[in-house]
Order: sequence, then C-alpha cells, then structure tokens
Amino acid sequence: MANALTASPAWQALSRHAESAARGHLRELFAADPGRFAALSLRHGPLLVDLSKQRVTTETLALLIGLARARGVEQGRAAMFAGARINATEHRAVLHVALRNRADRPMRVDGVDVMPEVRATLARLKAFSDRVADGSWTGASGKPIRHIVNIGIGGSHLGPMFAADALAGYRRPGVSIAFVSNPDRAQIDDVLAACDPAATLFVIASKTFTTVETMSNAAIARAWIADAFGEAAIARHFAAVSTNLKAAAAFGIPEANVFPMWDWVGGRYSLWSAIGLPVMLACGFDAFNQLLDGAHAMDRHFESAPLAQNLPALLALIGVWNINFLGCDALAVLPYDHRLKLLPAHLQQLDMESNGKSVTLAGDAVGCATGPIVFGAGGSDSQHSFFQLLHQGPRIVPCDFIVALKGPAGFDASRDLLVANAFAQTEALMNGRTAADLASTPPALKPHRAFTGNRPTTTIVLDELTPSSLGQLIALYEHKVFVQGLIWGVNSFDQWGVELGKELATALGPALAGAAAPVGKDTSTSGLVAAYLEAKRRSV
Ligand code: F6P
Repeated sequence: MANALTASPAWQALSRHAESAARGHLRELFAADPGRFAALSLRHGPLLVDLSKQRVTTETLALLIGLARARGVEQGRAAMFAGARINATEHRAVLHVALRNRADRPMRVDGVDVMPEVRATLARLKAFSDRVADGSWTGASGKPIRHIVNIGIGGSHLGPMFAADALAGYRRPGVSIAFVSNPDRAQIDDVLAACDPAATLFVIASKTFTTVETMSNAAIARAWIADAFGEAAIARHFAAVSTNLKAAAAFGIPEANVFPMWDWVGGRYSLWSAIGLPVMLACGFDAFNQLLDGAHAMDRHFESAPLAQNLPALLALIGVWNINFLGCDALAVLPYDHRLKLLPAHLQQLDMESNGKSVTLAGDAVGCATGPIVFGAGGSDSQHSFFQLLHQGPRIVPCDFIVALKGPAGFDASRDLLVANAFAQTEALMNGRTAADLASTPPALKPHRAFTGNRPTTTIVLDELTPSSLGQLIALYEHKVFVQGLIWGVNSFDQWGVELGKELATALGPALAGAAAPVGKDTSTSGLVAAYLEAKRRSV
C-alpha cells in the first residue's frame, strides 16, 4: 500500500529504475566497465569497503542518495550529534557518540554538556581496571583477580562479549573471561565450575538492574561468593554498571564499584559505556581506549562526509535497495577472521532490535519491509554448512564479507588460504557458472552444477584486526542501521517488541511454580504448562 514514503518521487524513481536494473547481471556490469571496482570501492582509515559486487550502477546510487536527501538523512544525523531527543517514544537523546568523543567538543543534552561526566566515569573505570590488573585490587582472601565473569543480557552482554572475544589477542596473561546471560543454570554452573571464587570478579551489567535473567544469575553468583567468604566479601567480588544506582546499592555493591550509564545510551549501543568494563578488565584499559578512538574516527567520517562518500550511508542505502527494490529479506554476515566470529550475533541485536519495526515515528504503517533478517557465522565454517543455499537456493541473500587481511601470524600460508576463500566466494556468488563453463559436464548434471550468480555482496576489508579497526567496524554498522531507520521513518532506538513476551512470562511464573492455575490461556499455552508441571511432578 502506497504511503508518504513509497509514494514519494524519490521512491517511485527507484522503483522504475529497479525494473530495468534488476534485469542486468553483475557479470555484464563488470564486463562493461573496467573501472567498476575503482568507482565503487572506498577506503576510510584501516577499512576498505568494496560495493562493486552489489547490483547497483552509479545511477542507482545517485537515486538512492536522492532518497536519503528527501528523507532528511543529513538533518537526522545532525540531530543525533546535537543531542536532540530523537528516541521520541522514550523521550530520550541518542548520544552513544559522546562516549567515544575524543575531540575537545561539548556534546549536549538539553543544553548540558555530558562530556565532563563521561570523562570522569572513564577515569574511574581506568583506575579500577588498572588496580585489578596490577593486583592491588584483590578478592576477600587477598588473592589477585584471575577470572572476570560478566552477568548481563542483550546489549549488556553481546557487545562486550563480542569485543572481548575479538580482542582475545590483547588479553592479559593468566586472566579468563566468561559471559553469563542465560537463566538456564547450565551456563552459570559451567562458568563457576571453571573459576576459583577467591580470584573471581563479577560485573553485573544491567542498564535497568531489573532484567529478570540478569538478576536471577546475579543472585546465584552472590550466593556463591557469600557461601565461600561471607556477606562482607560481596564488596570485593562484585562491580556493577547501571543507570539504576539505587538497585545496585541494594544488591550490596559499594558505590565505589558501581559505574553509571545514562538514559541517552541505548542498550545495543552500550559497549562504549561502562558496559565495556569486562573488556577493560580482560584486555587492559588502553585496548578499550583504542576501541573508542576507532569508533570516534568513524563518527567523524559519518558526521562530515558527503553522502556519496559516506560509508555508513552507502551501506545503508544499498541495504534499502536490496530489501525494498530487489526484494531480498535477509542479510548474511560472514566474518573471515576467527576473532570476529561473534560479529553476526552482535549485529543481529543491533540491526533487528533497532529496525524490526512496522510503524513510523508518527505511528503510521511504514508501507514497506524494514530491517533485514540478519544471520551469519564464521565464513569458513559457513561455507561447509549454509553457503549451499546462498549459491543455489532460489532466494537471493545479500552477504557482507568481513575480511581482516593480516592475521595473528601475519601473512602466512593459512592466511592466504582464509583470504582466498573469502574473495573466491564473492567471485562465485557474483559470476555463478554458466552453461558455457559446463560444456564438458554430462547433460543430466548440468542443471545441478549450474550457478545463476548475480548474488550481491559487500566486502569489508580490515588491514588488520586491532582495537581501533574493530571500533571503526562496529561504529560503521551502528550508523548504517541509524541511516536505514531514517529512510524508513522508524524509531531505531526503542524496543517495545520485546516487552509483551516479558510481561507474559512474568504472568506465567506462578503457574509454572505450581502456585496458581493458568487463567484465560489458549489450549496450547495451558497444555504446555500442564506438560511442564507433569514433568516436575514426575521428578519428585
Ligand atoms: O531485550 C531488551 C533489552 O532492553 C535490550 O535492549 C537490552 O540490551 C537488554 O534488554 C538488557 O537490558 P538491561 O541492560 O537493562 O538489563
């Protein structure tokens, strides 16, 4: 159904263009233009982004940039950096860029510069993580800390877990780090079994300090320490990160170990705040600082580069093209660097929690598909599992290949192999295999061995995975998601869609505990509750 977006001249021009452009094959676009890679690849610092294997021409990009202008992307971007309350449904500013602002520039919310508070918190985090690192912060029995356990979920889990894993090469020797998010005891029990309580520091990471999964795991960890060393030991073995300082204090964590965050930091953008504490503890404050430097470099690029050279904007616009004009619903994220294997999980929350929306800021239907179904896993392993569908399935799945050129052992033979596979996959997805290529294949096998190709990919190349290039990469995707939200007119910063399930789970709690019969439930839900209660009865 047409609405303000889909009926707009910029959208209509793209629809008309798609009718002709969608017929062309990437092979032909490359054959017709030897300068295609040069024209459609951009470098920014340690990142090289190759868009030339996307099904676009310079005309497509010009039309997409026209759409971005018509949708007020430049104004939206300026509003975010100016601290406007662009998260309108929660009446909040969106200022994660302030957390990594390295410039001597104030960043204001309601006229108040937040930078002094940001810098003061960073100084406290540095002091605390340095003390843990140099052994002057000890557990209750005087042992230095050797195990860091982060307890959080969603943005209080995925971002720091991804960054700490990506920066494993920077890990302080003799320190282990684990992340607990799942209320299934199997996870925390496994983690605790590998830790010495005398040398364990827990970080309770929860913006709200009310999230039930986190609070349930925090209580288990608390009892584990209290059983070993008594209540007084809690202060030596726990730190917290939250906007809810009162609840953290009630948990027994002394004020000195509680690090604030602010309501202008969305959960999925919170890695840059004190939620990054486990990364600082495991990899050292300097590595975290360089992560912030990298993200800031991308912020400056995003804020100042014209749309035609703006990497986040171009990635966003190509995503809109693929989703809305070529009808591709998914996006496969395929890192070719073992340390980036958790990137797909981080991007799933970033993208799908931000833009999985059906209504505009004004509350009207968006009128078209919004954020993609993001999935993915390490590229090499995925080649031997789901790549078959990417190559020969009837649906077209655009892919982002993320490749770090230099590996931990430099440019050795195993790196040659890894990178060759990444580049070869983009080539295969683009070219496919034609009937001419199959001249010597038995006729009965030809249909099975043919590849249509023309499958769009973006390749993001990092010179090397470092804290700084990682910061650039994450910020690139954050701004991409924001620009797409501006195009679709949705609020990328709320997440009302996760609330209903939480409410219903709370209401079902007494039924599963056997304290009350479920009332007014459909037969499926009450049947499932009955099955649980029956299993419980049988186990006693
Ligand atoms: O799943 C919803 C959500 O609010 C996420 O946005 C957030 O990252 C996560 O829950 C955890 O919330 P908190 O940090 O408040 O525990």
